[in-house]
Amino acid sequence: MTALKFPENFIWGVATSAYQIEGAVKEDGRGTSIWDTFSHTPGKIRNNENGDVAADHYHRWKEDIALMSEMGLKAYRFSTAWPRIQPAGTGKVNKKGLDFYDRLVDELLRRKIEPYVCLFHWDMPQPLQDKGGWPNRDTCAYFAEYAGVVAECLGDRVKFWFTENEPWVLAFIGHFLGNHAPGKKDIGATLKSLHHLLLAHGLATEAIRSAVKQPVKIGITLNLHPVYSATDSEKDKAAAERVDMFINRIVLDPLLKGTSPIQGSTVAKILTARVIQDGDLEKIRQLDMLGVNYYTRAVMKHSNKVPVLNVEQVQPVGNDYSGMWEIYPEGMYQTLKKVWDYKPTCEIMVTENGIPVPDGLDFDGRVRDERRIRYLQSHIAQVHRAIEDGIPVKGYFHWSLLDNFEWELGYGQRFGLVYVDFKTQQRTVKDSGRWFAKVIEENAL
Ligand code: FCB
Repeated sequence: MTALKFPENFIWGVATSAYQIEGAVKEDGRGTSIWDTFSHTPGKIRNNENGDVAADHYHRWKEDIALMSEMGLKAYRFSTAWPRIQPAGTGKVNKKGLDFYDRLVDELLRRKIEPYVCLFHWDMPQPLQDKGGWPNRDTCAYFAEYAGVVAECLGDRVKFWFTENEPWVLAFIGHFLGNHAPGKKDIGATLKSLHHLLLAHGLATEAIRSAVKQPVKIGITLNLHPVYSATDSEKDKAAAERVDMFINRIVLDPLLKGTSPIQGSTVAKILTARVIQDGDLEKIRQLDMLGVNYYTRAVMKHSNKVPVLNVEQVQPVGNDYSGMWEIYPEGMYQTLKKVWDYKPTCEIMVTENGIPVPDGLDFDGRVRDERRIRYLQSHIAQVHRAIEDGIPVKGYFHWSLLDNFEWELGYGQRFGLVYVDFKTQQRTVKDSGRWFAKVIEENAL
């Protein structure tokens, strides 16, 4: 087989997020986030686990960067924890918290790994939640203030910024399904949250630009899924279209076209009448980079299972599955194509893609995670296919560097290229990590 060559300067990276790896939730003045509150509420997380210690990255960051360097990674996407930097969410800055990221950035640069900073991966300061959280429009201004603080500190060295990770997930899983913090089940709060998260992206973009002197690229990362109808029936097709609108278009239209698909819909009309204000859509539509997080597709049928949307997800037979999702490599290509169909003027890159595998150490201390290698191989091949088709995908960030705290599923779902023994915190590079290192070295699959 001939090797699939990637363009010169293709960005090979990994991604993580603060609450999932850092631990040290009470150290150096860090405040409380909605994820601390949620994970300490009995029954919310599998086995009642929490991120108090996680992968202890707050103490082991140097060792972790050394591992990245060994793998030859070109870039690292991580998130800064808002409650570490502004424990109250606004006002007073906690210098010790900011210093952690300052050191991290310096060490990455010393190792020639480009930092891609994400300002918000769901760990909202609890005091701001107490003031109403994302359904409260004031939160947008608080977020911009925080973005300015971080940019002021790191902006002389960090050239690539993501304002937020997957605003849809926080809005819908956190406010509609209630499986994520803050655990609400309220469609009105969901739509308000989503709009405010998008608006906050725009305001934060402006705050970064005014705080930083050097040219920077600013973007957002989105969870996107190609949506398929379970059958050819008109009802199921309509169900798939509704889901496409409520998962993909609801974020892509405002960011890439400056329009909102929900403005015209009956459900949303009443709820959003006063939410989307004049000028908001122009603020939102500011993007130098769009990060695509792709894991799986959605196959939908009409049903009363999910209220309001009247849909149900179907798991097609005959395909491979992981601990969380159907494995569907072709969806990677379809997702990139979907974005490209908007004719975006911003750069596109894959900012997350990965698979949970119940890995363990073999007798000789190795982790033979063949399933992850197969997953990587098939999905990266689809990224290559997109590039061949003329979609200029700039990079691929694997989720994740380390096994970590997988939100409501706790520590059971291992996503890392590096195995973490959560009792001893010992790290072991898995076979997939070595495999990925080889891909990076050859810049080819
Ligand atoms: C994404 C999240 C990330 C991780 C992966 C598996 O939706 O951004 O934090 O949980 O899924």
